[in-house]
Amino acid sequence: MIILAIESTCDETSVAIVEDGQRVYCNVTYSQIATHNKTGGVVPEVAARRHVEAIVPVLEEALRHGGERMGILKEGVVSCEKAGGKSDMPDYDFSEVISKIDAVAVAQGPGLLGCLMVGNNAASALSLIWNKPLIPVHHIEGHLYASWLTDNCVHEILPYDPGRDGREKFPILILTVSGGHNQLILMNDHGKYKLLGETLDDAAGEAFDKVARMLGLGYPGGPEIQKTAMNGNKANGFRPGDPFKYKLPRAMMQNEHANDLNFSFSGLKTAIRTLVLKLKKEGELHRAVPDVAASFEYTICDTLLKKLKKAADLTNPREIHIAGGVSANLRLRKMLEETFPQGKILYPSLKFCTDNAAMIGAVAYFRYMANPRKYEKLRNSVPDLDLKFY
Ligand code: KG4
Ligand code: ZN
Repeated sequence: MIILAIESTCDETSVAIVEDGQRVYCNVTYSQIATHNKTGGVVPEVAARRHVEAIVPVLEEALRHGGERMGILKEGVVSCEKAGGKSDMPDYDFSEVISKIDAVAVAQGPGLLGCLMVGNNAASALSLIWNKPLIPVHHIEGHLYASWLTDNCVHEILPYDPGRDGREKFPILILTVSGGHNQLILMNDHGKYKLLGETLDDAAGEAFDKVARMLGLGYPGGPEIQKTAMNGNKANGFRPGDPFKYKLPRAMMQNEHANDLNFSFSGLKTAIRTLVLKLKKEGELHRAVPDVAASFEYTICDTLLKKLKKAADLTNPREIHIAGGVSANLRLRKMLEETFPQGKILYPSLKFCTDNAAMIGAVAYFRYMANPRKYEKLRNSVPDLDLKFY
């Protein structure tokens, strides 16, 4: 089953074509990072407008790239007359690619409203025009399925196995670490989740972003902190930061919280703020930034790891998956590999860690397989609107 999937919940406009929830024919993403870097974070109104500009070109690229990868794209009439004048762009005939697509999927939420509207309206329109089922999915469930994707058009992570249901993998213990979510989830089957623990305040990604801002680094904070911790800065002679230089608090690890699986990162954030003020006063901040970045990164990774280990001891899962943007962090990956046996721990390919449409296509496949009739009905359902006809 081939699904065209759309993701537009926050600051990436992404369209993918995915087969059987695994094989990624294409995943075309327009990232707004450069825009939001200027304001140090996502301004929802600005993000929504960027999606409006990007959605059609990204869709067109996905059909072109996906069609090429599927080996079926025919190049059509060159230099068509487009609205507003002549275009030198080749005009592709997508009809055969579209005929191979069985359904349209979209990340329905959670997300920024204006951003969600762009992707959801585009998906509904395509489902209507192409007369194909519409599969709305939860964005975070998409992240949970990112480790199921293979990209064997380029390089293989898992062998593509058509029609695989992967039931031998359950139960899977999943740590979600994105900008908005930080949870420990036990997945007992497709679509069956048990929440074991979550953050009581900030998510790990949010903490990375806020601390990066305090340190005068760019947006998004995660990659910036990783880079500065790894390579240092001019002021410290480009030496890697020392992860043990500053002893920072690890919340929810002692006393009555020692045995629960919840997280809290607001204390760590406050500790960094206090440290930054002190270093600033002493005129040492600039030189100390790589050490602060490395100490913060190490502390947060160590906390995530210890809670994950505790959850694994309690649930004895067959596999452990890490999902969400922070799963791209190299220190976290190294620490996980040192703790868990090889083959037990799986994280997505780096390009599928942050927001992307391929993961939406993956979860949509398993959702559809569990209940095809539900989604067939969705395509024809008309909401109860008070319409006027002339
Ligand atoms: O999953 P995601 O792309 O979007 C949400 O659904 O939130 O996650 C974005 C988060 C950001 O907070 C970003 O700073 C963080 O993932 N992130 C990282 C890295 N790459 C992205 N955090 C740590 N290390 C990274 N290499
Ligand atoms: Zn996300």
